[in-house]
Formats: sequence, C-alpha cells, structure tokens
Amino acid sequence: EKKLRIAIDGPAGAGKSTVAKIVADKLSYVYIDTGAMYRALTYKALQQDVNLHDEVALAALLRETKIALQITPHGQDVILDGQNVSAEIRSSAVTNNVSFVATPQTVREEMVDRQQQLAAAGGVVMDGRDIGTHVMPEAELKVFLIASVEERAKRRYDENMAKGFETDFEKLKEEISLRDKRDSEREFAPLKKADDALELDTTSMSIDEVVEAILRMVTERA
Ligand code: C5P
Repeated sequence: EKKLRIAIDGPAGAGKSTVAKIVADKLSYVYIDTGAMYRALTYKALQQDVNLHDEVALAALLRETKIALQITPHGQDVILDGQNVSAEIRSSAVTNNVSFVATPQTVREEMVDRQQQLAAAGGVVMDGRDIGTHVMPEAELKVFLIASVEERAKRRYDENMAKGFETDFEKLKEEISLRDKRDSEREFAPLKKADDALELDTTSMSIDEVVEAILRMVTERA
C-alpha cells in the first residue's frame, strides 16, 4: 500500500489539527503540527525579550533552537531545547504574536527546511498554512479546510470553556480574524489554497464527518 503525503492547510481554528491527528492515527501515519513549531519559537522569543519585528534576531534565535515533536497517547508534545512547552505555546500571548514571528522569509525558509526533513519518509499528515504551497508541493493529497469565523470562534470558545478558561466570544472572534489577516497578507508564503487542493467547508460538519471525507479522498488516491 502506497504511503501518501497529506497536506492540510486553512485558517485558524478550522479544525486542522484535530482532524489531522485522527486521520494520521487511522492511517498509522506521522502527524506533524507545523504551527506548534512557529509557536515554540514565539514562546522562546517572548521569554528572551527578542524584538518580534527583528528578522535577523529571529532567524539567529531559530538557528540555535531545537524543536522536537513527540507523539504521545493524547497527541503530540512539543519539546523546546529539551523542555516540554506543550501547554505554554497555547497561551494567548503566544497565539496573538505568532503571526509576527512567522512572517520573515529567513525564518520560514529554515522552518520549511526542518519540516521537509520530518516529512521525507512519507506517510505523513502535516497541517499548517503553506504546506500544500511550499512545504510539500508534491503532496499526493492537499486539503484546504475552511469554516465561517463565527463557527471557528464558537469552537474555540467551547474548547476554552471546557478547560475552564473564561473567554470573551467577541474578542476571540476579533483575534481569529486578525491572525487570518496577518497570515493571508504576509508577502512570503502566505496562507493560500494550493491550486490543486480540495476545499472542504466544515462549518456545518462534525469532526467525524470531516475525518470520513478526508479518508475517502485518501482511498481514491491510494
Ligand atoms: O496552526 P496554528 O494555529 O497553531 O498556527 C499558529 C500560527 O503559526 C499561525 O497563525 C501562523 O502565523 C503560523 N503558521 C505558519 N505556517 C504554518 C503553520 C503555522 O505561518 N505552516
């Protein structure tokens, strides 16, 4: 059986990581969360007071930074220079600043390089913003997941409430829109549907339905 490379891109909160994790699990593929890598660098830059608009400083910081993604029974742990930062990289400080760190070309080129090494063996599900366009342009299957901002904010809101985080829905919606805007408007490798990606609007779909739809696409290609 042929091992595919599956690229899943889309805006913030479209359910990419949830779905990608399950699909990878069902196929016994490796799941690679590229957003976690940008988040880890952002966390370190904030810790070290590095200017997030200084491209040279960010690129230098990344060169001396080790980021490992470790599979666990519950998903994936993110290990930054030997330290587990899985929880820290989901903070709102990181979430609201990560787009700045993900903007410069030199940072992205180094990240893409690392991501391509992780994907080299095939049998991968990788999620992000530029996977179909830059990281794995030769992927056998490219999916572009979208959902209305309202729905994406609602999902994030429910998630936060379930974790016991008090959340302002309108603020959450604004933050998601702003992150999408920054990710879509940056000059180098913006969030963009690859020409050969299949778009899936998940606004009124359940997680199971999205997983099923992607597994059907896989069967058609395998
Ligand atoms: O996927 P997640 O929401 O965790 O990604 C966090 C941020 O990392 C995105 O908003 C984007 O700025 C950046 N990112 C990126 N390219 C990727 C994955 C994430 O620019 N391939």
